[in-house]
Amino acid sequence: MDQRKRVLSAIQPTGDMHYGNYFGAVKNWVDLQEHYECVYGVVNYHAMTMPFTPKKLVENTWELIFNLIAVGVKPDNLFIQSLVPEHAELCWIFNCFCSYGQLSRMTQFKDKARQSEESSEGFISAGLFDYPVLQAADILIYRADYVPVGDDQDQHIELTRDIALRYNAQVGKTYFVLPEGLYTEATRVMSTADPTRKMSKSAGEKHYINVFSDPDRIRKQIRSAVTDTGDTPSGEMSPGVSNLFTLLRAAGRLPEYDALMDHYVTGSLKYVDLKEAVAEGLVSLSEQFRARKAETVANKKDVKEQVKASSAHIRQRAQETIREVKELAGLLNVKF
Ligand code: TYM
Repeated sequence: MDQRKRVLSAIQPTGDMHYGNYFGAVKNWVDLQEHYECVYGVVNYHAMTMPFTPKKLVENTWELIFNLIAVGVKPDNLFIQSLVPEHAELCWIFNCFCSYGQLSRMTQFKDKARQSEESSEGFISAGLFDYPVLQAADILIYRADYVPVGDDQDQHIELTRDIALRYNAQVGKTYFVLPEGLYTEATRVMSTADPTRKMSKSAGEKHYINVFSDPDRIRKQIRSAVTDTGDTPSGEMSPGVSNLFTLLRAAGRLPEYDALMDHYVTGSLKYVDLKEAVAEGLVSLSEQFRARKAETVANKKDVKEQVKASSAHIRQRAQETIREVKELAGLLNVKF
C-alpha cells in the first residue's frame, strides 16, 4: 500500500482550458505527481449543473482528457467522474450531513444561479445548489489529504471539512481526515481584458487565454491587456500590471520578472516591455503544449482506452470507501 499523502483535484469539462486553470491549479497537479499519490477527475456530473447539450458534454470530456495529458498529467492518474458512480451515491449520503442554510451561502452558487437564470429562461437546477456536496464527495471518497485548487474553491473546501466533521461525529469515529487546499503563487489569475474579474470562460472569449492558443492570438490578447485605468490609489500597483507580473512569474520567466520589477520600482517600466515578456513566456509554454496535444490526439484511441482503464482502477478505491461509509452509517449493504 502506498503510504504517501493523497491528493485529489478535479476540473469541469465545460470548454477550453485557460491559463487561470493552469497556473492556479493544473500546474500544481502536474508537479505534485512526483511526490504524492494523486488522482484527478474530469467531473462531468458537475458540468450538468449549468445548461449543457449531451453532444458537447461528451466532446468536452474527451477534449479535456487530451488537454490534461498534453500539459503533463499522467493518464494513470486520471478518471472520468461518471465512470465512478459512487461519487453520486456518496453525495446523497452527504446531503444528509449538510444544511440547506450552508448551501444557500455558497458564493459560487449565487454567481452561477444568476448566470443560469439569464441563459436558460429562469431555470436554476437543484444540481447547481447541491454542487458543493458532490464536490465534497469527490474529495472525501479518496480520503484525500490535499486538494490543489485556485482560491475560488476555498468555500467549497471549508464545506467539505464541515461535512467530514459532521459525518465523523454522527458515526462516532474519525473516519475522514480533514482535507486541506493547496495553492500555487498564482492562486487567482485575472482576466487581461478586465483585471478586476477572474480569468474564466463564463465571462466570454476575451476574458481568458486558452493554453493551446496560437502565438498570434496570445500576442494580441496580451498587447491589448488593460494596464492602468487611472483609478488605482497612488503608490499601489494597478490590478492589470499586477496580473501581468503574476503571469510572467507563473510562466517561469524569473530573470525578466526581476528586471522588470526593478524598472517598476524605479518608475522606468514601459508597459510594452512587460507585455512583450509576458507574451513570449506564454507563447513558449503554449508551443510545448500544442506539440504534446498533437501527439496525444494522434493516439486518441489508445488514450481513451487507457483512461477508461485508469477510471476502473481508481473506482476500486471509491468502492472501498463507500462500503465502509455505508456500514458505519447503518445502511444495509450486500456484495453482489
Ligand atoms: P473549475 O473547473 O472551474 O476550474 C478548475 C481549477 O482551476 C482553478 N481556476 C483558477 N485558478 C486561478 N485563477 C483563475 N482565474 C482560475 N479559474 C479556475 C479552479 O480553482 C480549479 O481548481 N468546483 C471545481 C471543480 C471540482 C473540484 C472537485 C475541485 C469539482 N469537484 C473536487 C477540487 C476538488 C471547479 O469548478 O473548477
